[in-house]
Amino acid sequence: MTHQIKNLAEYQEAYRRSIEDPSAFWKEQAETFHWFKPFTKVLHWDFDKPEVRWFEDGQLNISYNCLDRHISSIGDQTAILWEPNDVTKPAKSYSYKHLLAEVCQCANALKSRGIKKGDRVILYMPMVPELAIAVLACARIGAIHSVVFAGFSAQALCDRVDDAQASMIICSDVNHRGNKLIPVKEVVDNAMDLGCNSVDTVLVYQNGDTSVNWSDDVDVWWHELVSIQAKECSPEPMNAEDMLFILYTSGSTGKPKGVVHTCGGYMVYTCYSFKNVFQYQPGDIYWCTADIGWITGHSYIVYGPLLAGATTLMFEGVPTYPDAGRFWDICEKHQVNQFYTAPTAIRALMAKGNEWPAKYDLSSIKVLGSVGEPINEEAWHWYDTHIGKGKAPIVDTWWQTETGGILITPLPGITDTKPTYASYPMPGIEAVLVDSDGNELHDNNVEGLLCIKHPWPSIIRTTYGDHERCRNVYFSAFKGKYFTGDGARRDEDGRIRVIGRVDDVINVSGHRMGTAEVENAINEHPKVIESAVVGYPHDIKGQGIYAYVITAGMNLDDAFRQEILATVVREIGPIAKPDKIQFVEGLPKTRSGKIMRRILRKIAAKDAENLGDISTLLNPEVVQSIKEGALV
Ligand code: WTA
Repeated sequence: MTHQIKNLAEYQEAYRRSIEDPSAFWKEQAETFHWFKPFTKVLHWDFDKPEVRWFEDGQLNISYNCLDRHISSIGDQTAILWEPNDVTKPAKSYSYKHLLAEVCQCANALKSRGIKKGDRVILYMPMVPELAIAVLACARIGAIHSVVFAGFSAQALCDRVDDAQASMIICSDVNHRGNKLIPVKEVVDNAMDLGCNSVDTVLVYQNGDTSVNWSDDVDVWWHELVSIQAKECSPEPMNAEDMLFILYTSGSTGKPKGVVHTCGGYMVYTCYSFKNVFQYQPGDIYWCTADIGWITGHSYIVYGPLLAGATTLMFEGVPTYPDAGRFWDICEKHQVNQFYTAPTAIRALMAKGNEWPAKYDLSSIKVLGSVGEPINEEAWHWYDTHIGKGKAPIVDTWWQTETGGILITPLPGITDTKPTYASYPMPGIEAVLVDSDGNELHDNNVEGLLCIKHPWPSIIRTTYGDHERCRNVYFSAFKGKYFTGDGARRDEDGRIRVIGRVDDVINVSGHRMGTAEVENAINEHPKVIESAVVGYPHDIKGQGIYAYVITAGMNLDDAFRQEILATVVREIGPIAKPDKIQFVEGLPKTRSGKIMRRILRKIAAKDAENLGDISTLLNPEVVQSIKEGALV
């Protein structure tokens, strides 16, 4: 088992050793896993290319390490505890033994449909145990999984299937979220009509009782195929640098990119960070409320906890169904010890009133976590007072899809906490701030761009099918450094506070979105000539989406706004719907034709008095009319 730090001196010592000799440090952690073939090389790296290889001549299987490795010691302990959306349905639990058998059956089912090592499988599913089972089944046979959040539209799903050239989609018939029934299979059918030519099987998990369209050529029921399979399936030996999964995420330009993580390094880092950041102890019940469609669910619902032999809770529903006490009800019912959620959920529940958490016994909670976006001071204090009762340290964890695991965070009970500060780097993480010329800022009390100087085991390896894009986006801005895209400040004691993105990525309710991606979707409406999208401060969502739209001969009324929203929902999904749409006659542009988003951001943020010099614009006259029509 990877090492668990117990006190401040141990953290300082681990940090010092990890920086002085990263290879020795990570070798020690990696050796605690099961390897079919032990590695002899620890690290090769060159950020210019970029090229990073950890434990490269070793062979392992991550599903073996999540499951088989634990059977003799904790085989009967609960691995996954599942809480359904519907409060009248019973919770389900899967012991490590039971989970292993289910994963093997699913793995055999995939094999029976011709899936083999290296093939890509798209998972488009609700938060049911079968999603975790499918993830681990892919890993067991060396298929590369790519989970697509089930709120994405048919078009967005199809784009991802096509980019990955996936041969299978695993989905459900329907999805239950609060009192909504979402027709998942229908979305998949629509995606298949739009493209997805590489797909020959759609495996459908029955999650409801409604009938769905069926095509015998490709569609197969999970309960018909999986349940007849053998309960043993030998794990495929994988090279440490073989791909484990692709996860699509938004960037500042173009279509979402497929972030690639590999087997060995990802395994070592997610287990190590899980054990340390949450200070998980045997017998604890750990709950992360994220969806497995995002990186947080991959690393800290499935892989990290199972690698560490934890009990991980999975929740199918939403925080406000049947009422705003649901999260706290689940915490009480299952005696949750570590609770990990996003600031947007905290703010939404805070707005419902203190009486909701007050109804429940939350005394089992030892650690609270926050992830996905900066947490504001008010939400931090509410979380601390009303959920943690001042006794559960808050770990404000900063990381990204690309980092695979948590990089900057307090360690609960070990390092101190300060509202809005992600605080200190994990062992192995050499975090630096640089100015826009790339000079490192060594002083405290400074603000700069957040970079990491040395690879850690779960760093992004490539963007699927486009290595050059990976180099350009992360490794070309500052030579020899991984650039995060975030701005940060360091306080007088060296704690880091991540302020937010400095590129054209916005963070809406903890969901990452490229402004260009939303613009492209809006521009699909035939009557839209051009659009510009920016983020603006939003009380609950962190950032809201503000769209400025130029149209051709339309009535600029609410009906047309609805058409634009419908276009965005069709192209991406409801999560990308603009909160505000302002119709404009022109967009402020530089002489080279680039949209000046800085100006648009200020107007959207009600800061229009202070736009700076606009005289160099190609069309300074549009600014006044945009200001006058602003929806603020
Ligand atoms: C932001 C989510 C401040 C940040 C794990 C980052 C945060 C982006 C924090 C990655 C935090 C995440 N404090 N900002 N604790 N955690 N972010 O890829 O801007 O969905 O670059 O990964 O979220 O979002 P992603």
